[in-house]
Amino acid sequence: MEKILIIGANGQLGTELSAALQTKYGQDAVIGSDIRKPQEENSIFELLDVLDNDALLKTVKKHKITQIYHLAAILSAKGEENPKMTWNINMNGLLNVLEVAHYEKLKKVYYPSSIAVFGTTTPSPAPQYTSMNPATIYGISKRAGEQWCEYYFNKYGVDVRSLRYPGLISYKTSPGGGTTDYAVDIFYKAVEGAKFSCFLEENTRLPMMYMPDAVRATMELMEAPKESLSTHEGYNLNAFDCTPKELYNELKKHVPNLEISYQIDKLRQSIADSWSDTVNDDVARKDWNWNHRYDMESTTKDMLLNLKKKFAVK
Ligand SMILES: NC(=O)c1ccc[n+]([C@@H]2O[C@H](COP(=O)([O-])OP(=O)(O)OC[C@H]3O[C@@H](n4cnc5c(N)ncnc54)[C@H](O)[C@@H]3O)[C@@H](O)[C@H]2O)c1
Repeated sequence: MEKILIIGANGQLGTELSAALQTKYGQDAVIGSDIRKPQEENSIFELLDVLDNDALLKTVKKHKITQIYHLAAILSAKGEENPKMTWNINMNGLLNVLEVAHYEKLKKVYYPSSIAVFGTTTPSPAPQYTSMNPATIYGISKRAGEQWCEYYFNKYGVDVRSLRYPGLISYKTSPGGGTTDYAVDIFYKAVEGAKFSCFLEENTRLPMMYMPDAVRATMELMEAPKESLSTHEGYNLNAFDCTPKELYNELKKHVPNLEISYQIDKLRQSIADSWSDTVNDDVARKDWNWNHRYDMESTTKDMLLNLKKKFAVK
């Protein structure tokens, strides 16, 4: 029987991945953990700092963990506020997880990477194997993390798997300080009837993905036969790409009164400018049959529907 530990379970991705894993493996098979308590404690939860390797080992032994999904990280824009702290959490947290996976002989580890590993020398669309010169400490830590994953796989046989997510769009939990957060905030403003102020320039193109696709991709990768995987660094993953102006125009079809203005945040604009505007995910499609289901139009419809429901309940 699988016992899955999710580290960083209360974040934007963790809340939705935890629910999906509970549905698949059963409520008692999934142990959420985070440095923050969850808003509602309706499943097994451990308060855990991934930097505390003794506590991590104790948690793994206590629950007889077989797989870890290590989601805890400081994201791109927030990471620039304190680069050394970001490096410490993003890097040493991963090393603690890989060590425990190695010594406790865990079956599998999941490590999320990001399009932040790409940089200004990366061609567009970003190929799976390409020039990478990440400009942020977040991107540097994710790229180094991918290489640590490949190293532990080759040297110790730790079955660690990884995806390079684009910006994730979702309605259940707010994003935690990334450069693509505008693409979530614009939906909230549309539903609240408020004016939207965008921190990126109107023509800044970035890769995006709706959360149901991201969760499904993660679970499909983790269930894929080991022999079918050609890399244990992050797989490129693509759904659609858009600019703030295009997303705004799509939203206007449903919310004609939505207004937008642009107040550019220099830091986040420079981060966005350093990333690839679209990625090529042929390797993921070939190795484990990845296929996205949501494009910008269907993401917009579903986000609006669910946010309206969420606000109606409140
Ligand atoms: N959200 C996106 O658009 C996106 C895109 C690409 C990659 N990713 C990656 O996916 C993963 C999850 O992202 P997210 O959007 O859910 O982030 P988030 O910021 O919403 O959540 C991260 C969670 O980790 C927890 N955490 C922070 N430090 C911790 C520590 N020391 N020990 C234990 N928990 C700690 C936080 O409390 C938080 O709940 C991250 O690794 C991120 O880099 C996310």
